[in-house]
Amino acid sequence: MREIILKAEGVKRYYYPRKGILGRVDHVRAVDGVSIEVQKGKVFSLVGESGSGKSTLARLLLRLEPPTEGKIYFRDRDIWSLKGELLKEFRRSVQVIFQDPFSSLNPRMNVYSILSEPLRIHELVRNREELTERIGELLQTVGLKVEHMYRYPHEFSGGQRQRLCIARAIALEPELIVADEPLSALDVSIQAQILNLLGELKEKKGLTFIFVSHDLKVVEYFSDYIAVMYMGKVVEEAAAEDLFRNPLHPYTRMLLDALPSFGSGHLRSRERGSIEITTRPSGGCVFHLRCPEVMEVCRREPPPLRERKGARVACFRV
Ligand SMILES: Nc1ncnc2c1ncn2[C@@H]1O[C@H](COP(=O)(O)OP(=O)(O)O)[C@@H](O)[C@H]1O
Ligand SMILES: [Mg+2]
Repeated sequence: MREIILKAEGVKRYYYPRKGILGRVDHVRAVDGVSIEVQKGKVFSLVGESGSGKSTLARLLLRLEPPTEGKIYFRDRDIWSLKGELLKEFRRSVQVIFQDPFSSLNPRMNVYSILSEPLRIHELVRNREELTERIGELLQTVGLKVEHMYRYPHEFSGGQRQRLCIARAIALEPELIVADEPLSALDVSIQAQILNLLGELKEKKGLTFIFVSHDLKVVEYFSDYIAVMYMGKVVEEAAAEDLFRNPLHPYTRMLLDALPSFGSGHLRSRERGSIEITTRPSGGCVFHLRCPEVMEVCRREPPPLRERKGARVACFRV
């Protein structure tokens, strides 16, 4: 059964005013009309080059900032209408893992304090023994050791620190985890281990993930659905296998062509993340300036996101 846990409807986030050259007031359309539905127990990935609006959308879904327009629903409730117990419940149920595990951990707090804070605030343990036991369990679940409890973040490697952030994210038994490029700051050799851990947690705990990545290769095996973003818009959304087998949007094909062929080795995510997005066109399809298949209509009108072959795609060619 399809159970929608999180839904965005026509969500926009504009940043303004930013004084442009010659005093022109500009705004940045970081997210520009995104509608998505995230199914319970699935991994929904947001993919696109740097600057395409993935992190902004992630922050909106986490209720870290309000949308300029549009609505976000968690279990059919507008997240900006939540108050009191319902808001507390949302904060418990939806957790985040960020890219840089170091800057998201307080260097002056040891593992015990870092992990006991959420458990205490949400009153999930009754006494000190239970707290210590729970922290030990969490550490083991993420592949750390019980003895690590009294260490500080700087005493861990990058991969271990990300495990610690994962432990903190799952401490409150959330339903949904938003992971914003959780592998990008890690060594290539560690990335697969962390991805495996996330996969295990998904299976064991029936967690739902929104997984943000600039790297299609990383999301290939982990994702159930993939939304490809370009300049604040979703240009294609499909089941992961379909997207890889039969990419419909020219931009998706361009991202896939940039991938090294199978067996050629490592996930060279940082290198590929450096492709830069060009300027936003003043009208038409957001991708038309780079599109190898551009037509006259693409310069005039933005293509609507339409159902095609089981996917949703915004392209006049498809
Ligand atoms: N707080 C902000 N103020 C102004 N512009 C922002 C802010 N956050 C993001 N942006 C801009 O919004 C666009 C999308 O950024 P972001 O969501 O970080 O993209 P991504 O995560 O895909 O790299 C970029 O052009 C970025 O410069
Ligand atoms: Mg980002």
